[in-house]
Amino acid sequence: MGSKDKALTLLLTLLLLAVTPSVISCPPSDRAALLSFKSALSETFHGIFNSWSGPNCCSNWRGVSCDPTNSRVADITLRGESEDPIYERTHRSGHMSGQISPAICRLDRLTTFILADWKNISGPIPPCITSLPFLRILDLVGNRLSGPLPSGIGNLKHLTVLNVADNQLSGVIPASIVNLPELKHLDLTNNRISGRIPSSFGRLQLLSRALLARNLISGGIPPSIATIYRLSDLDLSMNRISGTIPVEIGKMAVLASLYLDGNLISGEIPPSLLTCRGLSILNLSRNAIEGRIPDVFGVGSYFMELDLAYNKLRGPIPKSLTSAAYIGHLDLSHNHLCGRIPVGSPFDHLEASSFISNDCLCGAPLPKC
Ligand SMILES: *[C@@H]1O[C@H](CO)[C@@H](O)[C@H](O)[C@H]1NC(C)=O
Ligand SMILES: *[C@@H]1O[C@H](CO)[C@@H](O)[C@H](O)[C@H]1NC(C)=O
Repeated sequence: MGSKDKALTLLLTLLLLAVTPSVISCPPSDRAALLSFKSALSETFHGIFNSWSGPNCCSNWRGVSCDPTNSRVADITLRGESEDPIYERTHRSGHMSGQISPAICRLDRLTTFILADWKNISGPIPPCITSLPFLRILDLVGNRLSGPLPSGIGNLKHLTVLNVADNQLSGVIPASIVNLPELKHLDLTNNRISGRIPSSFGRLQLLSRALLARNLISGGIPPSIATIYRLSDLDLSMNRISGTIPVEIGKMAVLASLYLDGNLISGEIPPSLLTCRGLSILNLSRNAIEGRIPDVFGVGSYFMELDLAYNKLRGPIPKSLTSAAYIGHLDLSHNHLCGRIPVGSPFDHLEASSFISNDCLCGAPLPKC
């Protein structure tokens, strides 16, 4: 071949490369799945889906991104409330209606699916979502989704975040949920989920936040929860949880906040709970907790919030509270406590409202004994 021919061949090759769909274009099957997903939703104000057109869904489709190595759709992130300038300009948060199409399940390389805070997306979470083998983040917070959590949720072996808070989900916590070995963040807050917390919940060994507040959850607190070494925030408030507080909880290594308020919990406060290192927010209010407040506070006690109001506690306020390193908000009101309120910190900065409606407490800030 002469050098002229070589140059021509090179030119032709380059031309061919330019017109052949390159590896950066998404496969037609992913594009079709996204278009089906889009067609089940309607968002008119910001026109987000207007950008979902053209052959390459990996390029400039708002909220869609692909894995650069194989051009498969890896990430859908659509948030109705965000820092995104598109919302700031219009001073209006997002609003989207419609349903989550099962077509989403054809995107079998999806690792992140965030469809959050759109307020009016209704219908069920498609059960087939549990067949997405690479899914790591499932965030559907702040919509109007109903029906149960898919019973096969435990198939999502790589799931690290499951956030379905602020929807209208019902049914029970699927038993399979304990089979999510990488789950770190579980948020089921503010739904209509009923039934019990699975007794083997402690198998979620990487969990750091378990937020289950404002549901219809009943039954006891499974003691296995206390074996979750990394758990720092446990919120079971405003449910129908009964039984006693497992003593093991007071031995948890990094527990920082524990909300059990607004349940049907009975029995006494385990002393270990009040000496639990690192626990700085403890809300046990509005239960049926009885017995005395353990007199176990000391220089290691540091509570930003300690709320024991609306229970059936008896006996005196423990003197050892005055040796605590710090007690911010303390509420002992609406119990059956009796005796002189200790003198000194923290009692010198608390108001009478922290002590009212007990049987016979007296001394500042209440009237003299
Ligand atoms: C919310 O979605 C329903 C359909 O699910 C629709 O009838 C209604 O108009 C939507 N509301 C708003 C404010 O868009
Ligand atoms: C504790 O929970 C009760 C009832 O849910 C709530 O009213 C109260 O404000 C909480 N206490 C603190 C200190 O946040």
